[in-house]
Amino acid sequence: MPWGTRQDPHEAGLCDEYCSADIVPAKLCSSAGPNAKQLAGLKGRSTALRDGTGRDGRSAFGYSCPPAPATDSWISDMTWCSSIISYHNLLNTPPDSIMSQRVAIVTGAGSGFGAAIARRFAKDGVAVVVCDINDVGGQEVTDDINAKGGKAIYINCDVSKREPWVKMLAETKKQLGGVNFVINNAGATYKNKPVLETTERDFDLCFDVNMKSVFHSVHVMIPALRETRAGGGPAAIVNVASTAGIMGRPGLTWYAASKAACISCTKNLAIEFGPEQIRFNAICPVFGNTGLKQMFMGETTEDMFIKSIPLGRCSEPEDIANSTVFLCSDEASFLTGVALPVDGGRLA
Ligand SMILES: NC(=O)c1ccc[n+]([C@@H]2O[C@H](COP(=O)([O-])OP(=O)(O)OC[C@H]3O[C@@H](n4cnc5c(N)ncnc54)[C@H](O)[C@@H]3O)[C@@H](O)[C@H]2O)c1
Repeated sequence: MPWGTRQDPHEAGLCDEYCSADIVPAKLCSSAGPNAKQLAGLKGRSTALRDGTGRDGRSAFGYSCPPAPATDSWISDMTWCSSIISYHNLLNTPPDSIMSQRVAIVTGAGSGFGAAIARRFAKDGVAVVVCDINDVGGQEVTDDINAKGGKAIYINCDVSKREPWVKMLAETKKQLGGVNFVINNAGATYKNKPVLETTERDFDLCFDVNMKSVFHSVHVMIPALRETRAGGGPAAIVNVASTAGIMGRPGLTWYAASKAACISCTKNLAIEFGPEQIRFNAICPVFGNTGLKQMFMGETTEDMFIKSIPLGRCSEPEDIANSTVFLCSDEASFLTGVALPVDGGRLA
């Protein structure tokens, strides 16, 4: 309930019991909402109200919420809780950095596209969980973000297994309070080769890292994203697929199939979770300058490949980062179920 839109809490007789307690000072409960001076005076106080219990049930973003009055019919328990959470978020949010309290988990962020996505989020004031199995790369990216004034933590997590996801979520909640965005970017492939030379191991690698990871992320992260939504925060998942999931890519059959599956599940997830305002989109990069580049090359040389890209170059990690962060932003709040080619026009 945005303050002042329904009924002044003073008039409803709620303030004595709820607002003047340790939750919202009574003097701020006006139908006009808090003014700038009141906000300035209370920034420290709202931090002091953190109860450190994390989120469960009515306790979210570190704030305990009182139960809504049983006799009151116009406000639900959850709505009451959300209004208090939004109120405290507002108190803690300097007007010029509205993204600063948001949290993004980026998988495969120890190198390539993922590292650029993590850095770009951090530049926008988003706290980042740098997730990878490459501890050296992951820690380097994390240290770099923190050295530049951003906020990042590194978590080792093999995205193809459920348990590491569960641990990563617990650690994220403990250290950063919750999660708004999950970027399923970690990926793997085998060296470009004719399909009859591929092995079952090649197949499993592609589907475990590129696809099963999305299954685990959805099962583990959706409850956390629901908590975020209940607190009024934005929630979105971006799956990094590939142009290979849309058009043929000889020599990479099973990799391409895993990316096509990734695009397909993104669309179905977007439909299923749309009513909860949890958005799902996919990014489809064209051949880019990262660690996987050599694996993708077959008989086609880089020059030959570039000739098929109207804008005349490969993708750079920053191209992918810009589009991914955009899909999580408020500007993209009406975009869901999109598979966005970031491809210099290759698919045009
Ligand atoms: N580079 C390209 O040309 C290209 C094109 C289209 C799509 N993609 C996709 O972009 C994504 C990022 O790849 P990149 O090109 O930056 O390559 P990259 O090798 O630089 O990055 C991939 C990262 O994922 C990590 N990783 C691998 N397996 C993991 C696991 N099980 N758990 C956690 N982390 C794991 C790696 O350690 C690495 O840091 C992948 O999904 C890839 O398929 C890449």
